[in-house]
Parts: sequence; structure tokens; C-alpha cells
Amino acid sequence: MIVIVDFGSQTTHLIGRRIRDLGVKSEIVLPQDAFKSIKKLAPRGIILSGGPASVFGKEALLVDKAIFELGIPTLGICYGLEVLGQMLGGKVAPGKKKEYGPAYVRLNRTSAGKPALLFKDIPDKLRVWMSHFDQVVKLPKGMIGLGSTNAVKYAAFADEKKKIYGIMFHPEVHHTEFGQEILNNFVIKICGENPLLGTKKIEEIKDYLKKEIGEDKAVCALSGGIDSSVAAFLTYQVIGKKLTCFYVDTGMMRIGETDEVINTFKNKLKLPLVVIDGKKDFLTALKGVIDPEEKRAVIGETFIRIFEREAKKIGAKILVQGTIYPDVIESQGTKHSHKIKTHHNVGGIPEKHGFKLVEPLRMFYKDEVRKIAVESKFPPEMVTRHVFPGPGLAVRLIGEVTEKKLDILKRADAIVIEEIKRAGLYDQIWMAFAVFTGVKTTGVTGDERKYGELIAVRAIESKDTMTSDWVRLPYDVLAKISERIVTEVFEVVRVVYDITTKPPATMEWE
Ligand code: XMP
Repeated sequence: MIVIVDFGSQTTHLIGRRIRDLGVKSEIVLPQDAFKSIKKLAPRGIILSGGPASVFGKEALLVDKAIFELGIPTLGICYGLEVLGQMLGGKVAPGKKKEYGPAYVRLNRTSAGKPALLFKDIPDKLRVWMSHFDQVVKLPKGMIGLGSTNAVKYAAFADEKKKIYGIMFHPEVHHTEFGQEILNNFVIKICGENPLLGTKKIEEIKDYLKKEIGEDKAVCALSGGIDSSVAAFLTYQVIGKKLTCFYVDTGMMRIGETDEVINTFKNKLKLPLVVIDGKKDFLTALKGVIDPEEKRAVIGETFIRIFEREAKKIGAKILVQGTIYPDVIESQGTKHSHKIKTHHNVGGIPEKHGFKLVEPLRMFYKDEVRKIAVESKFPPEMVTRHVFPGPGLAVRLIGEVTEKKLDILKRADAIVIEEIKRAGLYDQIWMAFAVFTGVKTTGVTGDERKYGELIAVRAIESKDTMTSDWVRLPYDVLAKISERIVTEVFEVVRVVYDITTKPPATMEWE
């Protein structure tokens, strides 16, 4: 097994998941417990994760130096590399240039003219994903530089004799080229692990549901997305008619969404479904709310109050949710990680509610959930359906949510989806949508000045939610989207395309 020391990175758990994909077990431990845990667990390798702190700040998180004397192969990633640099006698300093998102690493050969074992069979130039400010400016004794970027001299280094490696980029995120191969080199070739684990995910989930729900009744909150659908489907297989699914029409869904959901769940998956009209509840609760975090809290609370009201009628005390790991980590799921946003179904839930929460997918990623859906024979259109956030269009509408703004956004959004489907691109991308930016801008129509709305279009690709790149949509598709929005959605005078990666931006605008 491999021990991962968690310095609070958004992607620590993703490292564990990648190791699981290699068929090897891992355990995540805290830096302050690292030495004790490593002595107890006797792992074949140690990975030091990334993290938001600075190694020389007051808040610096470090480990007991003795772990580097145990002779266990060690890989430091991002902040983990800085920990190695600092603690083993080198120097870390703030970088002149921040690198967030894509960068190119050029790998060096070792003095023997061969690639280091960590980079065996890896090309010399790689597009990788970075997210850092500080960097190692002087290597510890015995280390040699193994790669650099335009902004970072030591983007990779190693003491191959001691089997200690540091890399500045994140091999665990799918946007880093050959990331999984680099982790494979570390875990299998350097640490000598044997891939043993099988994947018995569905059986494990069902056992968990059996244990958590027992003979009780449960309700499941469906959003129409794949996560809650898979959670409901597996729960239904375990407890049958003791499950009731709720779908709340918040008024912040896409055009046609509610009908589609009803059709899929009632007619195709044949789940027991109650549809609740919550439009008024949500619009009233969101009146005057502008701050995105407050919006999410209000939405989380409104959802749960509606569920409480409806569950009481049935006599159910268990609420099954389709929360997945990225929701948990972005809402601050580990001791040292930063809060990015409070996903409505995690931190957005009020502390006091009348439910026991059961979250069978809490440790999984979206692509794993999609695989479970395929194995469970879900209708294919459900598996490839774009992700839609629980708070719906509220987080794609900057400022106060009103019926009028929602109506403009819905019509613009429908055009984006129609044109992307027409171009045959829908299934190739993670999600595409329109954003009501709330910015007023000047236009000219029929020789008249028109002061109207600015709509932003975003199309992104991702695999596991933690990182994403914007889609290079063909110009003619972008042109068609823009032309149709400004002519068919009268209130809009300007359309822009969002060309930001995650990081530094998140996928949703709020
Ligand atoms: P961000 O914007 O955090 O989004 O990069 C990552 C993925 O999560 C979805 N998302 C949410 N899903 N409740 C959800 O169920 C939420 O509060 C929420 N916020 C974001 C988002 O659509 C994207 O696919």
C-alpha cells in the first residue's frame, strides 16, 4: 500500500483514486500524524500531496523529518515537492510568475544519459497542469534537476539512490499528459507494488446501503443528473418499494428538463417518483440574494425543507443523496484543504434537519459513477447527459435571481445546447451552457441604440471535475450561437465566449 500525506490539496483524494485505478491500496494521513502512521502501516511508498500553504509561512505544514530516513520511496507533488526541497536542505522562495493551469515541462536525462525511472517511457516534453506560486530555487544536496518549465527551473528533481522524487505538476489530474504513467512508474516500478485490487464497486455500494438503511423507509433527492440517478437506482435495487424519489422543479432548470426527467424515471427506469413544484419556494427564498455562497446556502436549505415536508407525509427519516467526492472536497472536505464553493448538497445543507443522510457515492468521481451507470444498463442518453449543477441556473445567473432573468437565460441556454448538438459535439464535451452575466452593454439594432444584456457562453471538457479545459469550438458553431442568441433573445445585445481553464477559474461562474 501507498501512504498519501494530505497537505490539503483539492486533488489529494484524486491521487488515491489514481492509485486505486492501478489496482493498489492507499491510505490518506495527516502531516502531523505522518511518521506514526507510516511506522504503523509500513507502506511501500509515500506521496506528499499538494496544498494551499507555503512551506516558509507561519501556517507552514511540514512532517517529521524522520520519515525521509526510513528508506521508503517518496514522491512529492507540488507543495509536496516544496516540502522535500525545504526540509532536505534546499531553498523555497516565492516565484516571479504564478502558473495556474497548463504549462509545458521539458524533462532532462540523468547523468547516465537515461531518463530517471519516474519518467521511463515518457516523452521529453509534456503538457502538464500546474497550480502554484512558490518554487524550489536551490536543490537539496544529492538531488538533481529533472525538468523545468519557462517559469520554474526545478519542475522535477530526484535523488534516485534514495528513491526520493519531487514534481511540481499534478500527475493525478487527467489534463496532465502521461500523468497516470508517471504514477505507475512510481507505484509499480519504484515502490515495487503489485496490482492486486479488483473493482467490486457496485457490490460494495449495495452492502453499504443495506447496512445504512436496514429496514427503514428512505427518500432520494433526484436532480436529473447521473449521480443522484445512480444513487437512487442502486438504493431501489436494495430496498425496493421502501424508496420514494423526489424531484423538485425549482424553476431554475433548463427548458424541457422536467419533462425529460419524469419520462426517464417513470417510464424508463421505473422508479417510484413524486414530482414537487417548488418554483415559488425557491424564487421567494432567493429574493434579494446576490452573494454566490449565500445563494447556495439558501438553495440547500430550501431543498431540505421541501424534502422534510414531503418525507413526513411518507414517514421516511433517511435521505439518500448522490453527493460525489468533488462536491465534498470543494466544500472543504479535509482538514487542510481550502473551501472553493459550498456545493448545495454538502456544505449548503443546514446543520439542523430531520434526516439521516446516506451518500453511497461520496468517495467516487463522475467518470466512475458513469461507469457504474453503464454497468447498471442505464439508458445511454442519461450516461452522456451533460452535468448540471444542483442549484441549477441560479449559479449561472450573476446577481439576484428573478423570473425575468431566468427566462432570458433559459432561452439563450437552449440555443447553445441546440447548436452544439446540431454540430455533433454534444457527446464529446463535459458541459456547455450560457451565463447571464448581469452586465449591461450597448448595442445597435435597426439604427437604434439598445442597452441590453451580455450573455457568456462556456463549453468545457473534463474527466473527473477537478480540472478542465475550454473547448475549442469551431468558429462557425460559435458564430451561429451568437447570431441566434442576439436575434432570438431580444433582450441580449452581446455574446462572449469564456476561454478560461480550471484552475484558475471554476467551471461554473459562481
Ligand atoms: P465547479 O464550478 O466547482 O464545478 O468547477 C464542478 C462541477 O460540479 C458542478 N457543480 C455542482 N453540482 N451542486 C452540484 O450538484 C453544486 O452546488 C454544484 N456546483 C458546481 C458543476 O456543474 C461542474 O460540473
